[in-house]
Amino acid sequence: MNVKEYVERLFIGEDALHTSISKVLQERNITPKSISLEVAKTLRLLVKIAGAKKILEVGTLGGFSTINFAKALDGVGSVTSLEIDPELAQFAQSNAETAGVGSQINIRVGHALESLQQLREEQETFDLIFIDADKENYTNYLDAVIKIAQPNALIIADNALWDYRVLDENDQSEATIGIRSFNEKIANDSRLETMLLTIGDGLVIARLK
Ligand SMILES: C[S@@+](CC[C@H](N)C(=O)[O-])C[C@H]1O[C@@H](n2cnc3c(N)ncnc32)[C@H](O)[C@@H]1O
Repeated sequence: MNVKEYVERLFIGEDALHTSISKVLQERNITPKSISLEVAKTLRLLVKIAGAKKILEVGTLGGFSTINFAKALDGVGSVTSLEIDPELAQFAQSNAETAGVGSQINIRVGHALESLQQLREEQETFDLIFIDADKENYTNYLDAVIKIAQPNALIIADNALWDYRVLDENDQSEATIGIRSFNEKIANDSRLETMLLTIGDGLVIARLK
């Protein structure tokens, strides 16, 4: 048994929702994946430790992470999730209804950078923000979410290791460059205190001072 299997067996276990969403995505030939179960559990803990009530997510997919956040709220608070694909947004909304958290989530369809600008114009603010959409735009998302983050807010991003491709200097794909630039930017932003946890595919956690 390796470390990952040990941790999963002891601290995580099975998750029927994760399995069923992954199955549907696979059947529809959709390549992006839901967050891993270890990241999901870490995010639920962070919501509770931080006492987060207004959560913003960039990248909905089938709604697994959206529902995971909504459940961690224990009935008090809301999750706004941004998704470019209307069919995925509908699939995620229906999964949230089935999971009993439909009324706590609000999915906005469109390019996330436009939705983030709209949220700013509406003077919405959030106390936990999760970035998990197109990797090429991670640095743009960081700039945009800082503008609508409350003091002390947590800004979290998944895929910070990008299957270890960030370490491979020969990998100059747009997505890898996007993640690499994001990690460098967030690590050096003096407005934030930041750490990269090497769980799942790498999870960056920052606190806005
Ligand atoms: C990795 S998946 C999100 C997984 C989801 N957070 C989960 O764990 O269940 C990334 C999602 O971002 C969406 N996406 C990609 N580019 C986007 C954009 N420019 N604006 C909004 N959503 C985008 C994709 O359609 C996809 O559903």
